[in-house]
Amino acid sequence: MSTETDRVLIFDTTLRDGEQSPGCSMNLPEKLALARQLERLGVDVIEAGFPIASEGDYESVRAVARELREPIVCGLSRTAPEDVERAARALEAARRPRIHVFIATSDIHLAHKLRMGREQVLEEVDRAVRQARSYCDDVEFSAEDATRSDRDYLVEVFRTAAEAGARTLNVPDTVGYTTPGEYAALIRYIRERIPGSENLVFSVHCHDDLGLSVANSLAAVLAGARQVECTVNGIGERAGNTSLEEVVMAIKTRRDVFAGVDTGIVTTEIYPSSRLLSTTIGVPVQPNKAIVGDNAFAHEAGIHQDGVLKAPITYEIMTPESIGRSSSTLVLGKHSGRHAFRERLRELGYSLDEADFQKAFRRFKALADKKKTIYNEDLEALVADTVSERDQRYRLGEVAVVSGTFQTPTATVEIEVDGERRKRSAMGDGPVDAVFRCIAELTETKSELVRYQVNAITEGMDAQGEVSVTLAEDGRRVIGHGAHTDIIVASAKAYVHALNKLHWHKQRRDAEAPRGI
Ligand code: KIV
Ligand code: ZN
Repeated sequence: MSTETDRVLIFDTTLRDGEQSPGCSMNLPEKLALARQLERLGVDVIEAGFPIASEGDYESVRAVARELREPIVCGLSRTAPEDVERAARALEAARRPRIHVFIATSDIHLAHKLRMGREQVLEEVDRAVRQARSYCDDVEFSAEDATRSDRDYLVEVFRTAAEAGARTLNVPDTVGYTTPGEYAALIRYIRERIPGSENLVFSVHCHDDLGLSVANSLAAVLAGARQVECTVNGIGERAGNTSLEEVVMAIKTRRDVFAGVDTGIVTTEIYPSSRLLSTTIGVPVQPNKAIVGDNAFAHEAGIHQDGVLKAPITYEIMTPESIGRSSSTLVLGKHSGRHAFRERLRELGYSLDEADFQKAFRRFKALADKKKTIYNEDLEALVADTVSERDQRYRLGEVAVVSGTFQTPTATVEIEVDGERRKRSAMGDGPVDAVFRCIAELTETKSELVRYQVNAITEGMDAQGEVSVTLAEDGRRVIGHGAHTDIIVASAKAYVHALNKLHWHKQRRDAEAPRGI
């Protein structure tokens, strides 16, 4: 068993670094649902946002801080006094607040981005960390672009941060440039030169530009880092951040290599977390992705299948059950009752209120009438549909389409806009185009369709189609998704879902005061 000092803290930044990458944005209810799942997953720290960046970020940090009781809730801040104050305000209701102050330290960033000298950056660090400490005991400091910074200057920066009261010193590989040996050496170099380093937590934060973020983070753990910053499914800027599930399972599976350290992650919640995130943002996980990809535990080659049947250890270094993937994919059917349905939703990481639960159950029964076997993926789509309907401006009603080679595709669609029922018909190049035209006219919206994607959720002739629609308006992109056994209806749902998201963002933007940053 590991002791407290040997715990590798898992700092999840899915809601901050992950969410800021294109196509991964979430609204407040979605962020809260994910934060609750991260709490079940047992992460030590949740970075809930960057409060000065927007009113929306401020609100989400506030909401997560107010609700979650177990993990530390963290808000990001630059060194400017108003940034630090804003982060502190957003965290006021947190049981365990953390302010995360950062500034760049590489000469490249100093010259081209900050236009500051090294001395000036040291002063900023000292002032901002002291200010953060005046609001809260738990302050983390990050030296952005640390891996391209001068080593001795970096040590000076961290020493300044530690003297000003930072307890966690984070060494980000902001541009995904370092390699495992080099990064481990850097961590050792810094640790050996900071007075009182045994009372500080050295943290790592890697990006995956060269596909090395997990390897770099693990090398740093072997060099004494005791906090890993990461995201679920590795989402994040450009090529992404360190993948939480890969780091955690490497430490768990290779106890011989990572002797004496452990994380507090409830690994059976890994798969539910991954699924919840990918269905929320509509970004699928690549099939061959380690740990959570569809094929991660699929044995295709006959020789492998034979081996696994005789003894799983022949080709399986961990079990699907250990990350919360149920061994059987067949889930529920027509005769399953409320209890089984509730249990399965819980295993998938959902906690619905009673009204949503009853709505989802009715939909499940309707789907089970059309489809013999209901898989986890069907349930996820069903819950996503139910939840996305809450407090929405636009609600899809009936959809009818005539299409084929005899006549021009024509659609008739009914929609409720702010409770008012509207109906219209339109022609299009194809049935989906006709439906989308109806919806755009009924909702009086002018967004641009950037991407349209359709997948079968599961196998079989009666599989549901899952459609993702990417819309852009005023420089913002959103992804909507919808599922149905009829892909035209799924398309209409996805389009309306995306319009609701755009509307949500529009409202936020209108409410935001200009901040001059
Ligand atoms: O990549 C990075 O440097 C960051 C910091 C703000 C920690 O995200
Ligand atoms: Zn980052």
